[in-house]
Amino acid sequence: MAAVHTLCRADEIAPGEARMFVVDDTMIGVFNLAGKFFAVDNRCPHEGASLAHGYVEGDTVSCRMHHWRFCIRDGTYLNEDRPACNLRTFAICVVEEMLQLELP
Ligand code: FES
Repeated sequence: MAAVHTLCRADEIAPGEARMFVVDDTMIGVFNLAGKFFAVDNRCPHEGASLAHGYVEGDTVSCRMHHWRFCIRDGTYLNEDRPACNLRTFAICVVEEMLQLELP
């Protein structure tokens, strides 16, 4: 059964910015793309760097360490055909100005 976790106020993450949260021992990267929020695994599948500290450009994030790129919207690994490297995504929404994340 999924559990809903309140993370922070939505206005604490400005458009174009990201923040990492640890929820039930899972590191989650939360990104604000022009006012819409997305949540993905924060841990880069290459060597574990924080994707919330990566470079955001449009709807992609590039890892700071070795520049693997991912789609923030659906977690797709973008550099090559490596579907096993896709990021998990998580349902996230704003309820009464608070960000709420659903963990399966
Ligand atoms: S740790 Fe992210 S690309 Fe290497």
